[in-house]
Amino acid sequence: ATNKNHQLRHVESMNILPSGAGNIPELNAVILGESLASEEHDLVFPNPKFSQHALVSSPQKYLEMYTRSIEDPAGFWSDIASEFYWKKKWGQQVCSQNLDVTKGRINIEWFKGGLTNICYNCLDKNIESGNGDKIALHWEGNELNIDGSLTYKQLLEKVCQLANFLKDNGVKKGDTVIVYLPMIMELPITMLACARIGAVHSVVFAGYSAESLHQRVMDCKPKIVITCNAVMRGKKVINLKEIVDAALSESSQNGVFVATCLTFENESAMKKEDTKWLKGRDVWWQDVVPKCSTTCDVEWVDAEDPLFLLYTSGSTGKPKGVLHTTGGYMIYTATTFKYAFDYKDTDIYWCTADCGWITGHSYVTYGPLLNGATVVLYEGVPNYPDAGRCWDIVDKYKVTIFYTAPTLVRSLMRDGDDYVTRYSRKSLRVLGSVGEPINPSAWRWFFNVVGDSRCPISDTWWQTETGGFMITPIPGAWPQKPGSATLPFFGVQPVIVDEKGNEIDGECSGYLCVKNSWPGAFRTLYGDHERYETTYFSAFPGYYFSGDGCSRDKDGYHWLTGRVDDVINVSGHRIGTAEVESALVSHPQCAEAAVVGVEHEVKGQGIYAFVTLVDGIPYSEELRKSLVLVVRNQIGAFAAPDRIHWAPSLPKTRSGKIMRRILRKIASKQLDELGDISTLADPSVVDQLIALADS
Ligand code: PRX
Repeated sequence: ATNKNHQLRHVESMNILPSGAGNIPELNAVILGESLASEEHDLVFPNPKFSQHALVSSPQKYLEMYTRSIEDPAGFWSDIASEFYWKKKWGQQVCSQNLDVTKGRINIEWFKGGLTNICYNCLDKNIESGNGDKIALHWEGNELNIDGSLTYKQLLEKVCQLANFLKDNGVKKGDTVIVYLPMIMELPITMLACARIGAVHSVVFAGYSAESLHQRVMDCKPKIVITCNAVMRGKKVINLKEIVDAALSESSQNGVFVATCLTFENESAMKKEDTKWLKGRDVWWQDVVPKCSTTCDVEWVDAEDPLFLLYTSGSTGKPKGVLHTTGGYMIYTATTFKYAFDYKDTDIYWCTADCGWITGHSYVTYGPLLNGATVVLYEGVPNYPDAGRCWDIVDKYKVTIFYTAPTLVRSLMRDGDDYVTRYSRKSLRVLGSVGEPINPSAWRWFFNVVGDSRCPISDTWWQTETGGFMITPIPGAWPQKPGSATLPFFGVQPVIVDEKGNEIDGECSGYLCVKNSWPGAFRTLYGDHERYETTYFSAFPGYYFSGDGCSRDKDGYHWLTGRVDDVINVSGHRIGTAEVESALVSHPQCAEAAVVGVEHEVKGQGIYAFVTLVDGIPYSEELRKSLVLVVRNQIGAFAAPDRIHWAPSLPKTRSGKIMRRILRKIASKQLDELGDISTLADPSVVDQLIALADS
C-alpha cells in the first residue's frame, strides 16, 4: 500500500464509498440542494433505475476500473484499444513518456508502432459491423424547415469523394488543410476526409476574423483551404468567403500562397452568383467533389502521426497550435464519450459546440462516431427564432444526450422556464456541461427544469490540450454535487499543488496539475516544442500544469475555480488577455491597454479593457466604438470587450509592471479589497481610475 499512488488513496477514502456511506443521507433518493443546509452535503444521488442500467453502476465499480487504470495503465488501455481496428498492432511499449523537464525533453507516446486510421474506425468499422444504414449525422439548418441526414454508408461515400479530391489536388500524408466552415455536414466530412488520407486538419472557428485566419495560415502553411460562401446565424448572413479572401490575400502578400480554396455553396445563406470569386484559386465544392469516386483507400498511419492542429489562446499574443496525434486521441475520445455520457446504441446525441473548438473535434466528430452514435449538428444560434429552439430540436430528433456550455444554460434560464416546459424533452436521459465552471444555481435549473430532475449532469472538465475529459462525473456511478466536476476519469491522476509545487492532500486548494500522461494528451505545440515545455511543464516539474485553480473537498470532489494565468473564459471561449491588448494597441490612437476578466452574469467572464490614449487624444464614444471594432476585426466578434475604461495612466510598479490585481478589483468594483497600493510608482492613479469608472 505504501507505493500506492496518492490519487488512488484519495479516491479510496472518498465518502461516497461504502466506508463513508454513513455520511450520506437517504441513499436512494434524489435530494435537491435547496433543502440541505450546507453545500458540502448538497449531494444529488443517481436515480437507482438509471444506475441499474448504467455502464458504471456504482462507486465500487468505478473504483475497480479506476484502480486498474492507474496500477496497470498499459493493460487497461491496450484492452480498450484492441476493440478498435489496427492494421498493425503497436510495439511492445504501450506508453513511453517523460513529463519531467529536469530529466530531458518532454515526450509522450502511446501505441507507437501501431498502424491505424481514425476515419476507418469511425466509418468503415461501424459499417462492417452492420450499422451502415444507421443515421450518423442529422443536420438541422438555421431555418426551421431546412434539415438533412446521412447514414454511416452515405457519410463514408461523401468522405471518400472529398478525400479523392484532396489527393487529386496534391494533398498528401502530413500536409495541412485549413478548414473554415460553419456547422454544416461538410465540416465533419472534411475532418474525416483529411484523416482518411493522413492529412492534418486545422479547423479555424468560423467566428474568427480575417486577421486571425491569416495568422494561422502563416503558421501552418496549408496546402488547401476549405470554406463555404456564407452562413446564416439567426437572421444575419455572414459572408465567410469574404473573410477567407481577405486572409489569403494578406498571406500571399507575406509569402504564403494557397493554391486552392475549395468553397461549398451554402445555398440557404447565399447563392453562387453573389459570391466573390478568384479565378484559378477558387473551386466550387459542388462542381468537383460529387464527380470523385465514392471509394478511397485508407492511408494507414502510425499511432503517433499527427491528426490535427487546433489553435488556442495562451498568455502571450501568439496563438498556440496544439497538436494531437492519432492512436491515443482515438482511444481516449471514444472511451471518455462512452463512459461520461453512459452511451448506449439507441442514444441520439447532440452537442451544441462548434467543430471549430476542441469540444466539436472530440465530442461532435470523433468520440461519438467512433462509438457508432447518431449525432445531431445544428447550424444556427440556440435562441433563433426563439429561446425554445434547443428543446424543439431535442423533441424533433428525440435527443437523449444533450451536451452544452454553462453560458447557454444561464442565458436560457434568464429567458424563463416557459420556453423549456412547452416542449416535452421526454427523450432526454443525460445532460452535459463544458467550458467553464457551472454555478450551482445554473446547475440546478439545468437539472430541475431542463432534465425534469431525471437526468444526471456530466460536468466535464478538460481542455484543448487534454484532448478529452479529465475530471467528470460518470452518470449513475456516484452522487453529484451541483458545480463540481467530481472525480477523475480512468487513467487520470489529478493533483493539487501549492506555489512550490508540493502536492497537497485532503481538503485543499491550489494549482491543478496532472501526474503521468493519458492517451489523449497533446504532444507538442506546432513548431514550438520549447514553448510547450515552458508553458505546461516548467512551472511544476514532473507534472502537466493545466493553468486552472482547483479545490478538493472532503469527499475528494474537485471544484474548478478558473484560470490562474492571463487567459479568460468568455462564454466558454478561451481568450488571452494579451491577444486583446495587442489588438487594442494596434489602434493608432491607443497607447497602452490592460485587459482583465470580470464576472459576467451570462458569459461567465466578460472582457474589461483599460486603455491609455496617445497624448492629446480625447476619449469619446466614437473612439470607444472604434476600439471595440478593432478587436472584432483582429480577433473576432466573440472577443469584443464588454467594457472600455479610459485610463489616463495605468497602475504600475516602480519597475513599470502593470498591477493587474488592482485593475481586477476596480473592474469588479471591489474597492474595499484593493490591498496594498503603496508599491505603485504613483498611487494616485488608482483614485483617478475609480473616478473615471462610471464615465
Ligand atoms: O478553465 C478551464 C475551462 O476551460 C479551459 C479550457 O478551455 P479550452 O481549451 O478552450 O477547452 C474548452 C472545452 C474543453 C480550462 O482550462 N473549463 C473547461 N471545462 C470546464 C472548465 N472549467 C470548469 N469546469 C469545466 N467543466
